[in-house]
Amino acid sequence: MKRWKMTLLGIPVAAALLAGRAFVAPAVAQDKEDAKSQVKDLDTELAKQMEVIDEAMKKLRRTLRKAESNTESLEWIDKMEKAGVKSKDLAPAMAAKMPEAKRAEFVEKYKKDMEVFIKTVGELKAAVKEGKNDKAQEIFKALKDQEEKGHEKYTEQ
Ligand code: HEM
Repeated sequence: MKRWKMTLLGIPVAAALLAGRAFVAPAVAQDKEDAKSQVKDLDTELAKQMEVIDEAMKKLRRTLRKAESNTESLEWIDKMEKAGVKSKDLAPAMAAKMPEAKRAEFVEKYKKDMEVFIKTVGELKAAVKEGKNDKAQEIFKALKDQEEKGHEKYTEQ
């Protein structure tokens, strides 16, 4: 085949590859997101509170982008704060499997991390009240980070 013909044939192939990438990339990002938040399903009171936090975070990802949704955002933040406070007074299921000598320290650390979480939720609330949506979205990222680290430390993956 002539060289120019081969070049011409290559154009649709390259275009298809690029288009494929454009479709595949967001799907991969979503998978990563799901994998991160994948924690073994448990039937505990703490798991119930975590579900409340999870639902609120899913709504907030969208609502925090728009100042018009700030009233709605504040409602979700309130639910998340209450669930955080309840969670702090519970202990991870994993604690029961710890050697007794380490259990108290493990639960203390968990509670400290939950306190940081609640404090950060408070900062999120303040930012939304002040109409600082950019700042609120930064704080949202910090909460996602705390989720990831919290699950690494206190759940069985
Ligand atoms: C944005 C923040 C967070 C979200 C969206 C989130 C979400 C979840 C979800 C969906 C579960 C599974 C619940 C089920 O089994 O049905 C879970 C479990 C759990 N999470 Fe979180 N979480 C967050 C933050 C944290 C933090 C900061 C910690 C610790 C400091 C933590 C500790 C745990 C533990 C220990 C469990 C297992 C439940 C148990 O042991 O009874 N999470 N979380």
